Amino acid sequence: MKKFEVLDSKNKIGEKIELFGWVNSLREHGKIIFFDLRDRSGLIQCVIDSNSEYFELAKELRPEYVIKVEGIVKERDPKFVNPNIETGEIEILVEKIEILNKAETLPIPIDTDGYEINEERRLKYRYIDLRRKRMQRNLMIRSKAINFIRNFLINKGFIEVETPILTKSTPEGARDYLVPSRIYKGKFYALPQSPQQYKQLLMVAGIEKYFQIARCFRDEDPRGDRQPEFTQVDIEMSFIEKEDILTLVEELLIELVKTIFPEKKIKEIPFPHLTYEEVMQKYNSDKPDLRENKNNHHELAFAFIIDFPMFEWKETENRWDAMHHPFTQPKTRSGSKERSVLIEYLENKPEELLSEQYDVVLNGFEIGGGSIRTHDPEVLIKVFETMGNKKEEVLEKFGHLIEAFKYGVPPHGGIALGIDRILTILLNEPSIREVIAFPKTGEGRDPMMEIPSEVDKAQLDELGIDIKEK
Ligand code: AMO
Repeated sequence: MKKFEVLDSKNKIGEKIELFGWVNSLREHGKIIFFDLRDRSGLIQCVIDSNSEYFELAKELRPEYVIKVEGIVKERDPKFVNPNIETGEIEILVEKIEILNKAETLPIPIDTDGYEINEERRLKYRYIDLRRKRMQRNLMIRSKAINFIRNFLINKGFIEVETPILTKSTPEGARDYLVPSRIYKGKFYALPQSPQQYKQLLMVAGIEKYFQIARCFRDEDPRGDRQPEFTQVDIEMSFIEKEDILTLVEELLIELVKTIFPEKKIKEIPFPHLTYEEVMQKYNSDKPDLRENKNNHHELAFAFIIDFPMFEWKETENRWDAMHHPFTQPKTRSGSKERSVLIEYLENKPEELLSEQYDVVLNGFEIGGGSIRTHDPEVLIKVFETMGNKKEEVLEKFGHLIEAFKYGVPPHGGIALGIDRILTILLNEPSIREVIAFPKTGEGRDPMMEIPSEVDKAQLDELGIDIKEK
């Protein structure tokens, strides 16, 4: 294993060091060759002259060759100091070079920030695209941010629980990705649009404080801030009220910014709480951009949007749909959550109901959403009925949850933060694809793996599936 990274050489002046990495660039000056060695920590200049027995080998080096270098770390003559790189005051006097692997000319450049390159090409050669400094930084910060969030929640007594990927449809407003079952032909698993039902079942199970860095799958048209699969910080808690969750999330976001993005300034603490009605009237958007100066990359305007309507009318399907999801607790405008009152509203005037939904917005994007849940099975069934489901259908689709709620369900609620979206904003990136190692294109393809792809007929036969001719 390599013992040192390029940046470690700064503390090794006068010492012999062994470094591994890629040849970043080369300059040949007759009897002397300079090359920059790159690893994930940075660049360092290496020098070799014609007296060395490795000079001939050094002449063979080309950009992106993978090499091992041994040499002495030396301070540069002040007139050769390069202030543009972190190791600009030192260089390696090469004593030995070993070529570990050669490289062909790269299909895309990596010495720029990459925005100028066609994205399809960047994604086709993603493993090269990720070598650029900006992408290395994004992946490194993503890892730090997730690690921070995990520690923050664990220190607050949360338990991380993994929930299934092969599961059943949970309504979050998108289409499901389906996985055919081989053993039960004609039956399907669905990939989770979120762990919503499992996390609520974990509350029935007495976990009380759950979180998960959860992968979610939604078959919807990708956009700049959307991917077919994305990651949530998914949280659920028992015996809490809305304010408890908002306080927790506010502290989490403030600490995250302070620790990992200290150059950023949060516009307003505590985060403002604005009602849906207020923001729709004032900004005509439920995710308003509240920054004072929208060109200022370092300003962060967080806000909580509360008191959403419970339902919205779905014109295409001619029915009411839950604005957040059906598990959200409805309430009247005066705040009543009385069963008999709610049932009366659900039956006769669902448009007048508000809900205990809350969204977190940041600089004009929805970065999180959640709600206090309905834990009364009768109200829950009625919500599904209001959305156009027959009672038998509700029991078939959600019977497990409704049954679970019969055996002592604590009042509970939660939230999910979209990690990819948060990082996109905090890293000042123009698209969510810049903060995901291997994203899909805007059209939902992966040009590197060439997916989606066809599968063998034998595989389809085994699943009992015929593809309809178009
Ligand atoms: P919701 O559907 O609002 O809530 O999702 C929570 C957050 O996830 C992010 N998000 C996405 N990010 C990238 N690509 C997508 N396609 C995508 N869809 C959503 C957003 C969003 O705010 N189960 C509930 C949470 C709860 O009630 O606790 C849920 O998933 O930032």
